[in-house]
Amino acid sequence: MRAVDHIGIAVRSIEERLKLYRILGLEASSEEEVASEKVRVAFLPAAGTRIELLEPTAAESPIGSFLAKRGEGIHHICFRVEDIRATMSELKARGFRLLSEEPLPGAEGSLVCFIHPSSGGGVLIELSQPGR
Ligand code: CO
Repeated sequence: MRAVDHIGIAVRSIEERLKLYRILGLEASSEEEVASEKVRVAFLPAAGTRIELLEPTAAESPIGSFLAKRGEGIHHICFRVEDIRATMSELKARGFRLLSEEPLPGAEGSLVCFIHPSSGGGVLIELSQPGR
């Protein structure tokens, strides 16, 4: 079960970036808007994991401000977990900093949370409990 669920990449335009990934043999298997995060996401399956392209739907949003500050690029790595609440409790108990107290609704009916980069060795780490 434990696996790299996906690698999240912040982009200005999913359509524009798909021109590159299609040449590499990848295609979006699903695309949806996560309204709470003001972001449109496309998942591109790639041999056991996926690339997640994240395009902001508003400038004032987590991905919008990432693009303004850092430009396009790798945004986070997501690990799949079986029991997100149990993993969050263990992390908190061991002093790791999380970005939310409770799991949040993610793409595809999943529950997600993020570990703060200051607790993740400079990497923004997402945990995801699949919804199906
Ligand atoms: Co993600």
